[in-house]
Amino acid sequence: MQDTTTQTGFSFELTEEQKAVRDAARDFAQNVLKPGVIERDREQKFPTEEIKHLGQLGFLGMMVSPEYGGGGMDTVSYVLAMEEISKVDASTSVVMSVNNSLVCWGLESFANEEQKRKYLVPLAKGEKIGAFCLSEPEAGSDATSQRTTAIDMGDHYLLNGTKNWITNGSTASTYLVMAQTDAAKGHRGINCLIVEKGLPGFVVGAKEDKLGIRGSDTHTLMFQDVKVPKANRIGEDGFGFKFAMKTLAGGRIGIAAQALGIASGAFELALAYSKERKAFGKTISDHQAIQFKLADMATDIEAARLLCLKAAWLKDQHLDYAMASSMAKLFSSEVAMRHTIEAVQIHGGYGYVKEYHVERLMRDAKITQIYEGTSEVQRIVIGRGVLTA
Ligand code: CAA
Repeated sequence: MQDTTTQTGFSFELTEEQKAVRDAARDFAQNVLKPGVIERDREQKFPTEEIKHLGQLGFLGMMVSPEYGGGGMDTVSYVLAMEEISKVDASTSVVMSVNNSLVCWGLESFANEEQKRKYLVPLAKGEKIGAFCLSEPEAGSDATSQRTTAIDMGDHYLLNGTKNWITNGSTASTYLVMAQTDAAKGHRGINCLIVEKGLPGFVVGAKEDKLGIRGSDTHTLMFQDVKVPKANRIGEDGFGFKFAMKTLAGGRIGIAAQALGIASGAFELALAYSKERKAFGKTISDHQAIQFKLADMATDIEAARLLCLKAAWLKDQHLDYAMASSMAKLFSSEVAMRHTIEAVQIHGGYGYVKEYHVERLMRDAKITQIYEGTSEVQRIVIGRGVLTA
């Protein structure tokens, strides 16, 4: 394993292109996402038009090569864009994150040419949305314990089982489904199949009524004797678990950046509010109790940002980034949870009502400690990394 603490060449200076991506994402978030975000959260309304718009801007296939319809941008730009979008609307940024990191990146890195032309191109252009289906009722953190089966029938696989907590569950057209083909081989018997919506036997279950990211659609999926062509398997027989792990390592950078955005969005709101609100004859920002909170928030958010950018930079340099992405996700998600609570506290009673946005950010923060691997899973990855370094 490479030592992620000592590589040289990591630059703190953003390029003009990276700054332009960040500014475009900020503009989109503030002008397009912000006006309807409270209503979408209240009504659990998927951001259909906003996602279409995001696709037209090239944000749904940011890192995919232009040859396959993508933006050809680097991971650092992706982190910058994810932070800006997540400051305002984490329901939209999770759709963006899953499509970019788990679906497009997985297909571009491991699918064959025919699969890329057929499935990656429309996903990278934002014409279609993808979903990543690993979690099951009895296989969450313990992802090797897949119960969904993909029985080899010669020219096709017969898929049976249930997947849950699937982001983009009903809005996706293309699903990457992990399933066990040969239980005797353990995780080496798992395959990843590209499953198209509409195949007979593929049923999208009810939408989850969630604490946060309520605008995103999270569903249980059922597969009953679904025939999936063998041509839709990604990689060699038995590559599915490694596919999932490699893809999730990159996905965790996206969720780390989402958590960073939630934290920095809450911080910006709390900072602005503290300069307006008066108590005991002065603005609350003049009270040291508030200044200390703001100082801790600013310091932690800056540290989270550096971890996110470092993980992204390692990925862009084609260096080992699995441990760095887990560190970024662990730290950023804990910062998001801790400091969205502080942002509500700084707002006092106003923080507890929807109009001021911070209560939503606090609810949204929680999921970043759970999906794409809980904080405990990140500690497993980091712990193993430090022990084998
Ligand atoms: N890259 C390549 N290979 C990897 C890898 C990586 N980053 N991580 C593990 N592997 C390989 C290992 O080398 C091993 O292969 P060999 O046996 O051939 O050496 C194999 O995968 C199994 O690895 P482990 O022995 O480490 O597996 P484990 O059972 O101990 O579990 C774990 C490790 C880290 C806990 C893993 O199960 C895990 O990440 N669990 C969490 C799953 C997760 O993140 N789920 C999120 C669902 S997706 C989601 O949330 C998306 C959404 O909708 C928002």
